[in-house]
Amino acid sequence: MGSLLIVDSIKKYFPIKGGFRKPLKLLKAVDGVSFEVKGNSVLSIVGESGCGKSTVAKLILRLLPLTEGRIFFKGMDISSAASEDIKKFRRSVQIVFQDPFASLNPRMKIMDILAEPFKIHNLLPNKEIKDRLSGLLKRVGLSADVLKRYPHEFSGGQRQRICIARALTVSPELIVADELLSALDVSIQAQILNLLLDIKKESAISIVFISHDLNVVHYLSDEVAVMYLGRIVEMAKTEDLFQSPKHPYTELLLSSAPKIKVKEDKKIRSWGDKKSSTSQPLNFSTFRLISDVPSPIDIPTGCPFHPRCPKRFDICDKVVPELKDIGGRLASCHLH
Ligand SMILES: Nc1ncnc2c1ncn2[C@@H]1O[C@H](COP(=O)(O)OP(=O)(O)O)[C@@H](O)[C@H]1O
Ligand code: SF4
Ligand SMILES: [Mg+2]
Repeated sequence: MGSLLIVDSIKKYFPIKGGFRKPLKLLKAVDGVSFEVKGNSVLSIVGESGCGKSTVAKLILRLLPLTEGRIFFKGMDISSAASEDIKKFRRSVQIVFQDPFASLNPRMKIMDILAEPFKIHNLLPNKEIKDRLSGLLKRVGLSADVLKRYPHEFSGGQRQRICIARALTVSPELIVADELLSALDVSIQAQILNLLLDIKKESAISIVFISHDLNVVHYLSDEVAVMYLGRIVEMAKTEDLFQSPKHPYTELLLSSAPKIKVKEDKKIRSWGDKKSSTSQPLNFSTFRLISDVPSPIDIPTGCPFHPRCPKRFDICDKVVPELKDIGGRLASCHLH
């Protein structure tokens, strides 16, 4: 399959006031990120809070203007496209956010919430909408009687299913899921992940799946990009990344990630016991306590990860490592 989405060296800098008589500083939220998403595939973007994941999502969705770089959707440059093409783009690319409650209008019945996109995009005659919605709800594991109810009548997991149904109403080609699972219990997270896997199988949709938690992306993603301070530091096919991470930051993320249990039918059941991982000598969560993520306003010299890297050596604080190809995958580390 060809590329659905091409993200080419995108940057997003936010100007920050430096205080009285102090110069304006730049917060480099996204600092030269490139990747491709092929048709019917899942790319996950993983990294700690503040590394720029949501900013990347907003740039893809055109919710923020780019500082630099270009984004192509099916070959069309989305920052300079004609308005007719932008309309099509807005249907083809949908976003689902972390907080399913905040993104559903509490005063609207589910019927009206889900019917809205059909009306905005003038997709279906009114009398066919209800049938279509019943079908959609079935796809996300809900029955048609939810249509008469209001958002507060549902649990977090059910609301997230409703948000996914809403994204699917316009038959998108790409869904950007930003921390979709973060507000949900672990058992519900597994259900939602399985739902996304089913949707991908049934409708050849591509997904950009954003998460701060490396362990949830394993069974969903075809490829994983690891971000640190606004840049991708490693990108590889999922199995390669989990079996042999090349960047010390990925290693640290993995060392704190409990394994997901998968039954023979390949359905995700639950996460492993978080406690078992804390006994490992190089543990990310304890490591994090002694050294916090540096600010994207003052990015460290050389390798941005050097103040926290257990493998750093003499040149690491002086020379910026490039993101380079190492046997069909990418990593930015002087060790390679
Ligand atoms: N509108 C904004 N103005 C200034 N700084 C912002 C804005 N949006 C995000 N940031 C900053 O950009 C960085 C990346 O944020 P974000 O993309 O939300 O990270 P993530 O989603 O990975 O947690 C953070 O330091 C954040 O504070
Ligand atoms: S370049 Fe150096 S500091 Fe950066 S990740 Fe590699 S070893 Fe660690
Ligand atoms: Mg975010």
